[in-house]
Amino acid sequence: MSDIISTADGTVATITLNRQDKLNAITPDMLLALEEAVRQAERTAGVRAVVLRAEGRAFSVGADINVWSALNPEAFRTRWIDDGHRAFDAIARCRLPVIAALHGHALGGGLELALAADIRIAEESCQLALPEVSLGTVPGWGGTRRLPEVVGKPRAKQMILSAARISAAQAELWGLVNFVCPDSQATSRAMDLARDISARAPLSVQYAKKLIDASTGEGLSATLEMLAGVATLTSEDLSEGIAAMREKRPPLFSGA
Ligand code: COA
Repeated sequence: MSDIISTADGTVATITLNRQDKLNAITPDMLLALEEAVRQAERTAGVRAVVLRAEGRAFSVGADINVWSALNPEAFRTRWIDDGHRAFDAIARCRLPVIAALHGHALGGGLELALAADIRIAEESCQLALPEVSLGTVPGWGGTRRLPEVVGKPRAKQMILSAARISAAQAELWGLVNFVCPDSQATSRAMDLARDISARAPLSVQYAKKLIDASTGEGLSATLEMLAGVATLTSEDLSEGIAAMREKRPPLFSGA
């Protein structure tokens, strides 16, 4: 079985972390597979929402410290930091809404992965933390940016600087998770929400996600380019510009 499993059922794609014996500790290969899985979900016809979940006792305990501590500085930069940012940015910038279903532990890179999702649901026994400073490192996959965006700087500093684990109830109080559900129900609650969202107008959902993210800087320039591109796509000026180029004559733009 692969460490990352992608499935699609009607309008909802599911990406499952499946390295159960290591509590879904994230390896370089899993980063590549996560990026591919989210791109595949975007390409799959009919899919309108993505659920990110995990098998086993935990959502993810974060970076696989054995792999990571054995990397040389160059591999650490390219295969760890760069690939991690690319994978998590692909999730954050996915045109489809992504809902993370958390259980057990969401620690370190596991929590950073969840922070790349749009909505987080946690089971009541779930514990969340960015414990990197207790290991002698710092969050490296977007946590220092995305956590303050979600909970505010003082609470992000409390979590990151103390490395303390917080309960699902505390996470809900801080807005780090959207809501808490009984144990064993995170995936089904995430699926329910994904199906609700899938029943809304897909283009509206996708534009609304982009606009909300752009308001805090996530993919802002890409969103502006996308909106301007879409706005000019059906313009007379674009038709005229293309026709003029084909006919090797100067264009006569009307401004419409
Ligand atoms: N990287 C690599 N392997 C990890 C891991 C990590 N971050 N976290 C857990 N594992 C492995 C353990 O080594 C163990 O493997 P083994 O059975 O081959 O020895 C397996 O996952 C199960 O973990 P274990 O510690 O035995 O489970 P537990 O239920 O007793 O404890 C935790 C669970 C989450 C409390 C504990 O595993 C932990 O604190 N992990 C480190 C989390 C962390 O600091 N993450 C941030 C990294 S930046």
